[in-house]
Amino acid sequence: MNDTDNATDGSPAGKFRIRRASAADLDNVVALDGRITGHDKSDYWRDIFDRYATRRLDRRFFLIAEASEAGAEFPLMGFIVGEVRVWEFGSEPCGWIFAFSVEPGTRQQGVGEGMFKAISGLFRDAGMRTMRTMVERSNRLPMAFFRSEGMVAGPYIQLEVEIEDTLDEVAGE
Ligand SMILES: CC(C)(COP(=O)(O)OP(=O)(O)OC[C@H]1O[C@@H](n2cnc3c(N)ncnc32)[C@H](O)[C@@H]1OP(=O)(O)O)[C@@H](O)C(=O)NCCC(=O)NCCS
Repeated sequence: MNDTDNATDGSPAGKFRIRRASAADLDNVVALDGRITGHDKSDYWRDIFDRYATRRLDRRFFLIAEASEAGAEFPLMGFIVGEVRVWEFGSEPCGWIFAFSVEPGTRQQGVGEGMFKAISGLFRDAGMRTMRTMVERSNRLPMAFFRSEGMVAGPYIQLEVEIEDTLDEVAGE
């Protein structure tokens, strides 16, 4: 898929196609994410849609995998969201994937790989040579998926701290 295409066949068997998200997808994205995470994040997804599906589309990609078959049990099979980020943390510009889900009832049929390859192509067309994401160390499923797609540990590590531990106690408190 390139920037001018609206959609592309995402699976060799033609079971699904991949296209950019539209406002009509929002309810299904919220519902899928809610089923997987157990949280209703409607406001978050509306904001993500406004930022990643309506502006600067040459570097922001919100893609949907939808069933080719009319009346399919799961019309929305998955979504992936990413963007080109430039000079963050001193890094050369690269593509970041920051949201990615496949409907549980349609997993292990190549939907995730189809979307991963589609966004890879868009990042490449945007001039990127590297793509990054972040996964929870203990979460084996996305780890297995991303590794199977060739992703390995990158040159950066994530650091974090409990904010309270960074604050000096105010005298007298
Ligand atoms: C990770 C996820 C997107 C994969 O989607 P999917 O459509 O099932 O993946 P695919 O069918 O394209 O699988 C591609 C490869 O990933 C690996 N993989 C996928 N599911 C796997 C599983 N349950 N166990 C082990 N490896 C798995 C396999 O190597 C597979 O290749 P193969 O089919 O030739 O064996 C999906 O499981 C998901 O939505 N998980 C929950 C949300 C999540 O973890 N998101 C990512 C972090 S934000």
